[in-house]
Parts: sequence; C-alpha cells; structure tokens
Amino acid sequence: MIKKCLFPAAGYGTRFLPATKSMPKEMMPVVNKPLIEYGVDEAIQAGMDGMCIVTGRGKHSIMDHFDINYELEHQIQGSNKEALLGDIREIMKSTNFTFIRQREMKGLGHAILTGKELVGDEPFAVVLADDLCVNPDEGVLSQMVKLFKQFRCTIVAVQEVPKEDIHKYGVISGEMIKDDLYRVDDMVEKPKPGTEPSNLAIIGRYILTPDIFDLIEQTEPGLGGEIQITDALLKQAKAGCVLAYKFKGKRFDCGSVEGYIEATNYCYEHMYKANTKKVELDKHSTRKSS
Ligand code: G1P
Repeated sequence: MIKKCLFPAAGYGTRFLPATKSMPKEMMPVVNKPLIEYGVDEAIQAGMDGMCIVTGRGKHSIMDHFDINYELEHQIQGSNKEALLGDIREIMKSTNFTFIRQREMKGLGHAILTGKELVGDEPFAVVLADDLCVNPDEGVLSQMVKLFKQFRCTIVAVQEVPKEDIHKYGVISGEMIKDDLYRVDDMVEKPKPGTEPSNLAIIGRYILTPDIFDLIEQTEPGLGGEIQITDALLKQAKAGCVLAYKFKGKRFDCGSVEGYIEATNYCYEHMYKANTKKVELDKHSTRKSS
C-alpha cells in the first residue's frame, strides 16, 4: 500500500568532518555496508519498491552505489568475492531508484518538499539514514506501515530520550490512545531546555500523507531560518490527525561519533558475525550432504 520511501540525503554531515568533506555521510560504512543501504533494506522489508532520494552537490556516490559497476562485475565474475555483492544485486533487481537534487539547504521540510515530484500524490515513508534502526523481528517501518493500514494518517516514530538530550530533537506531546501510540497535540523543533512538551523525541522515520506537501509550502521558515517538517506536521495535527508511535527496536544516532561506533559494534556482533556464521554453517551442511 505504501510503495515509496523518501530519503533526504543532501545534508553536509558536518558532525562527521573531515570524513564527510568529500564523502556523503549516507555512504559512511557501518561494518561493510553504507548507512543508506540499511534504510533501503528496512523500506524493502516494509513492502516498498520505490526509493526516492533527494541528493545534493557531491553526492554522486549514492547514485553509483545503487547502479551497476560493469568494470567491477567483470573483474570479480566467477570469483568467491561475487557473494559480497549478493545483497546489493537483489536490491537493484527488486527496487526502483529515482533521484532529485536539492539545490539549496533550506531544512528538512524543504528537502521533503523537493521530493514531491518523485513521490506524487500518495502516502509515503521518510527515512533519515543517519538514524539507524534495528529490530530483528519486524523493522520500524514495517511496524509503522501496519499502523498506517489501521489509522490512515500521518505517523511519526518517537523514542523516550533523557532530559539532557531532548533539545536535539523534534519533541511531541499527545494523548495516549493505545499502547505506545499517541495522538499528537503539540510538537516543537529542538525546544529550549525547560520548555520541552515531553520526553518523546521524533526519530527519523515518518509515514506522511501527501497533503503534507501543501502544508510545507505554507510553512514559514522556523528554527535556524529553515523550513521545519515539525512545523508542517503540527499544522497537520491541528487540522486532522497525526500519530506518534513509540517503536519497538533499537536506534543509533549515526550522525554522532558515539552513536556510529555503537551501531558498528552492534551490527558487527548481531548482523555481520551472525550472518558469516550462518554462511559457514550452510556451506558445511551442503558439503556434508553432497
Ligand atoms: C531532524 C528533525 C528532528 C528529528 C531528528 C531525528 O533533525 O528535524 O525533528 O528529531 O531529525 O534524528 P536533525 O537531526 O536533522 O537536526
């Protein structure tokens, strides 16, 4: 039902300089896979097949990553290295990628509005790739799609965050309508300490209904002179309904060095090592049975 996922990926990644001076932050590897590919995996798992990427200057490597590299394919053909390309080949087979360039950095709301041409007039997901979310049984977007089927309105992912960190996020408040689900009545982008409406911070996963585009167009620049998605969402919440969902799973802030290292350690232990072990076991059992 929700087929498209928008990835705002034009930002400079200044928190990771100098690594991000010429490399997009979305291409930073977590173990052996770039950050954005984790987001794409999550969207595919949630049933989406249209990845709409809002890029900017110096972001060519994102486009190249999701395209065929003939020279490399030729070089490794028939070698045992081919297996390492298995996942990305599958992604490219099952998924369509479209790109649009955001010429000016005018905030997350503006980035999402830039993607309007790619998304069209249908509900869609948004993934901020530097929030890496993992949940072994059901990815965060899958959980949100399930809720969307039931409620048919915009949903933002939220997480409880310690008081000293809450000013770094968009923060919601609302009435709990069932376990882990709130009807939003207020929303503030990066509130000043002491003014935060709750400890529930918005995390980079959204399901948006397409009326959000008109609301963004009507949104004046807010915090930092930028067009904030949070301000447009508040309008949507006041006019109709926006839900906030406290998702199941872990989230790593890969825009910070600490979060990135934590994500790397976690993915190495729980995904990379576990997979390698499984491949070894499979090899062993095929060898035994053949
Ligand atoms: C953006 C959003 C903010 C949200 C955060 C989640 O902020 O504007 O509402 O809480 O992503 O990561 P940024 O981190 O881009 O400053």
